[in-house]
Amino acid sequence: MQVLGIESSCDESGVALFDTERGLLAHALFSQIPIHQAYGGVVPELASRDHVRRLPGLIRQVLGEAGVQRPDAVAVTAGPGLIGALLVGATLGRTLAYGWGVPIIGVHHLEGHLLAPMLEPDPPPFPFIALLVSGGHTMLIRVDGIGRYTLLGESLDDAAGEAFDKTAKLLQLGYPGGPAISTRAEQGDPAAVSLPRPMLDRPGLDFSFSGLKTAVLHQVRQWTAPGTPQQVADLAASFQEAVVETLFVKCQRALRDSGLQRLVVAGGVGANRRLRERLKQLPAEVYYPRPEFCTDNGAMIALAGALRLQAGEHASPDFCVRARWPL
Ligand code: KG4
Ligand code: ZN
Repeated sequence: MQVLGIESSCDESGVALFDTERGLLAHALFSQIPIHQAYGGVVPELASRDHVRRLPGLIRQVLGEAGVQRPDAVAVTAGPGLIGALLVGATLGRTLAYGWGVPIIGVHHLEGHLLAPMLEPDPPPFPFIALLVSGGHTMLIRVDGIGRYTLLGESLDDAAGEAFDKTAKLLQLGYPGGPAISTRAEQGDPAAVSLPRPMLDRPGLDFSFSGLKTAVLHQVRQWTAPGTPQQVADLAASFQEAVVETLFVKCQRALRDSGLQRLVVAGGVGANRRLRERLKQLPAEVYYPRPEFCTDNGAMIALAGALRLQAGEHASPDFCVRARWPL
């Protein structure tokens, strides 16, 4: 079965073709980052408009590269995400599925992220613990199979990626914040500034990152002039270390409590080099998608749709797109 996947929940237009026998046949991505950069964050209407502009070309490109004229099914991100942006992908997907006379399935964006490591040559077997760290979510999930997800803990306020983005804004490092902070942090001392390790003193697997951002703000306010490059690098490194340490300890707890020894790390923050280095110290096998599939992409949506259809789920063309949607 060949499934065309379309992702348009936020600021990346992603398209891919996944074959259940041969794996990923082609994928294409257009990142809108330069469009939103001037505003310091994603502007929903600009995102929707650009998905309208880019997706048809990306679909043509992917079908051409894969040498496929009509896939067997279409999978589109149905949520959670920006509602206007989701509607673009869903409408386009529905129209194509109708024209081709093939089924369409609405996919949960976070399920796409969770399953993304299965696109790699050495995929993780079930069950595993998943750390999902993106711009909108920070979650620890026990994954026992397709659709068998147990939420173990989540952020009570800002997501990890959001904390990176907001802190980068405070340090005037630009958008998106994660890559900017991690680059700057390489010149900094992670022990230079003492920052809180939120919620480590409490039992459980929930997270909280908004206090950390406030601690960075207090630090910036103590500077009498704009921070020197070294001050900024030290604060970026100290912030990154606080986030990484918090994620590390919670992953360690989740693995210990569940008795599992496999961890999947998914979502944009999973691209962070320091996080990857630290997680090597876990007594577990850690799986990542390749860096380009850590952030939003069409391949994970095509894969999740294909696995659901293979598992016998009935595709329904009247699915609704949803800005909020619990996993
Ligand atoms: O998964 P994703 O592409 O989009 C959402 O579904 O949210 O994640 C984007 C988030 C942004 O907050 C971005 O700053 C963060 O992932 N990010 C990183 C890195 N690369 C992207 N955070 C830390 N380090 C990175 N290298
Ligand atoms: Zn995402």
